[in-house]
Amino acid sequence: MERIIQDNVEKSEFLVNRRVFTDKEILARERAEIFNKCWLFIGHVTEIPEAGDYKRKKVGGRNLLFVHSQDGEIRALFNTCPHRGALVCREDSGNSRVFRCFYHAWSFKNDGELVGMPGKDGFPEGFNDEGTKNMKAVNRLENYRGFMFVNFDENAISLEEYLGNAKEYIDLVVDQSEYGMEALGGVQQYSVRANWKLLAENSVDLYHGMPTHKTYFDIKQAQDPNLKRVRLEGKGINLGNGHSVIEYVAPWGRPVAQWTPIWDEEFKNDMEKMKEKLAERFGEERANRIANYNRNIVIFPNLVINDIMAVTARTFYPSSPGYMEVQGYSLAPKGESDKHRLARNNNFLEFLGPGGFATPDDNEALELCQEAYNNNGEMQWNDISKGMVRGEGNALATDELQMRSFWRHYNSIIAASLNKEVAHQ
Ligand code: FES
Ligand code: FE
Repeated sequence: MERIIQDNVEKSEFLVNRRVFTDKEILARERAEIFNKCWLFIGHVTEIPEAGDYKRKKVGGRNLLFVHSQDGEIRALFNTCPHRGALVCREDSGNSRVFRCFYHAWSFKNDGELVGMPGKDGFPEGFNDEGTKNMKAVNRLENYRGFMFVNFDENAISLEEYLGNAKEYIDLVVDQSEYGMEALGGVQQYSVRANWKLLAENSVDLYHGMPTHKTYFDIKQAQDPNLKRVRLEGKGINLGNGHSVIEYVAPWGRPVAQWTPIWDEEFKNDMEKMKEKLAERFGEERANRIANYNRNIVIFPNLVINDIMAVTARTFYPSSPGYMEVQGYSLAPKGESDKHRLARNNNFLEFLGPGGFATPDDNEALELCQEAYNNNGEMQWNDISKGMVRGEGNALATDELQMRSFWRHYNSIIAASLNKEVAHQ
């Protein structure tokens, strides 16, 4: 196939081949080389705090059961019966010591061990001595500060090594709470008629902020005359391994520091106190960074952590080149007051929710792109050059360096797989 990207530093031009958004073969390659080999977010550890708690998850195309087993271990079990394959657990979440398969009623402890089969005398002695009839666990499940990831490649590097420079930004999110973060109940699930990589791009794309989300900013400014015209000043940073971040001032408010819309004296005082506490814990500079800056992080390939007017972790997976399923979680500091939590939830739903003021706009933009890729190759290249003239270390948050970082890494994986294939022929 023709090239995936054209990366012309001399001309300050960066192009992406639109076929990567529509081609089924590319998707097959992505499944094999990316989703089967990279660390993928499964959930936050606080989603299953008690022994027996479980959540059903779909990760990397697999049905998994994210479970807090009776022995205290957190596991990711493949949610498929070792007998004839039925989905064992059919509830989205709950608490149970045992999972029983609907089809022939084999039952399993919440660590996956087979403990009951009707008609046992029909099976040989020692039928499960090797444990092959237990529900299987994903071998690689690792935790970074409460964010849990799986990897279907047993030989993958450790999660910490994989996250690399992105750890610093996850730390800035988690450190805003003295007691850690917790996932709030429920998950937003929706689908978008667009390629999954368009959402990865969009999540670190501040360039689209003002035009796409004009309605939201107009409403905010009408609600609060103190809000000046929003200026999204900050930096775009390549974190390596395909990860990237935009870090920029938060003029319309943050959970810590300058919250709106409840812009009253009590709120202001609370925020000042929070900032003082942060300064005690981390010093002025880091406290300022935590409290007064937004960050949108992309962890390659498909996790977005937005620490903006609320905190969200979003993950997505393609069921076809032009269609993805999205799951969004809201995270909040543990022990937050009811008043702050209410304001957070309002902000979360208002901006980040699929029925809010921003997410539908983003989805509209993504679907417009996908729809218009349906030409016959007459318009082959997307342009992602903004800010390239400034050089790697000087990118603004409204530049497109973050996306180029994603694409360069993506290209290194997919192009290598294409070359391997060519070499074998
Ligand atoms: Fe589960 Fe038969 S498929 S018991
Ligand atoms: Fe947006």
